Amino acid sequence: MQNNLKRIATDTDFFLKKFFKTQKKSPLLNPMSYGLFSGGKKIRSKILVDVGKIFDSEYKKLIIVGSAVESIHSYSLIHDDLPCMDDDKLRRGKPTVHVKYGESTAVLAGNSLLTLSYEILTSDLLKLDNSIKINLVKKISECSGHLGIAGGQYLDLSYEHKKVSKKNILQMEIKKTGKLFSFCCMAPLLIKKKNNKLVKKFDQIGSEIGLLFQIVDDLIDYKGQASVAGKKTKKDEKKGKATLISLLGYENTVKYKDNLIKVLNKKLSYFGSKSKNLISTLNYIATRDK
Ligand code: IPE
Ligand code: IPE
Ligand code: MG
Ligand code: MG
Ligand code: MG
Repeated sequence: MQNNLKRIATDTDFFLKKFFKTQKKSPLLNPMSYGLFSGGKKIRSKILVDVGKIFDSEYKKLIIVGSAVESIHSYSLIHDDLPCMDDDKLRRGKPTVHVKYGESTAVLAGNSLLTLSYEILTSDLLKLDNSIKINLVKKISECSGHLGIAGGQYLDLSYEHKKVSKKNILQMEIKKTGKLFSFCCMAPLLIKKKNNKLVKKFDQIGSEIGLLFQIVDDLIDYKGQASVAGKKTKKDEKKGKATLISLLGYENTVKYKDNLIKVLNKKLSYFGSKSKNLISTLNYIATRDK
């Protein structure tokens, strides 16, 4: 599983580097590259490939779609680290983009990575019908905007130092993190023109995988080490973040996470051996320390 993840990370970075070479020069390219090629795990691309395996979508196409997703993901991290948001100075073991290049440049490099993802999805390098590309762009936009990442980030910040219900915490985590995983779980089905009902099912599975991912991120913040995670830990409590840990405590959050994996494993077992890779990725997500 780890080797597979490394290969997907290498292939995704390879495509993104190639795509950067097709861009005309601009002063924002350096801060964009700094934020994008800083060694993220590429777990979202891995989920795309794993779901693609269930529906026989082509690896090469999924790597291109994954490149668009990773571009949006890196944008969200650059903005998440800004002083007006989580105010973090370390990301992927390096100074954050605004520390290195300044705040306004970080905002603009983030914006440019967001729009770059649309350029990737609509480029001729992605050999798909235009109608499929439109669907992909529509869904990735929904998952990134006010009903997805941006909306979830808004809630995350407005919940700081407040007592928030479990339902609202879960909704916030699903928006800020889950929705991009939903896109990764839907995209291989959109490529294969599967019916809406099945797409909806994978929308839901993606939200749950993303929620699992965010809960583990919160657990890593609570117990993990900065030297391993590549970012400062033990900061959520200081910032008064509303997390399941702040509401239920560490042990109950671990139980919640364990139950979520059970539910997901059961849903995925329906697809037999074709979902084997996805299930092993879920186990990696649940036990990771970075
Ligand atoms: C971190 O995401 C932010 C969250 C959504 C929890 P990742 O843990 O996927 O970050 P990288 O890309 O591997 O650095
Ligand atoms: C970030 O959540 C979610 C995003 C969509 C960027 P966190 O704020 O917990 O992510 P880290 O811990 O800084 O990576
Ligand atoms: Mg945050
Ligand atoms: Mg943060
Ligand atoms: Mg975190």
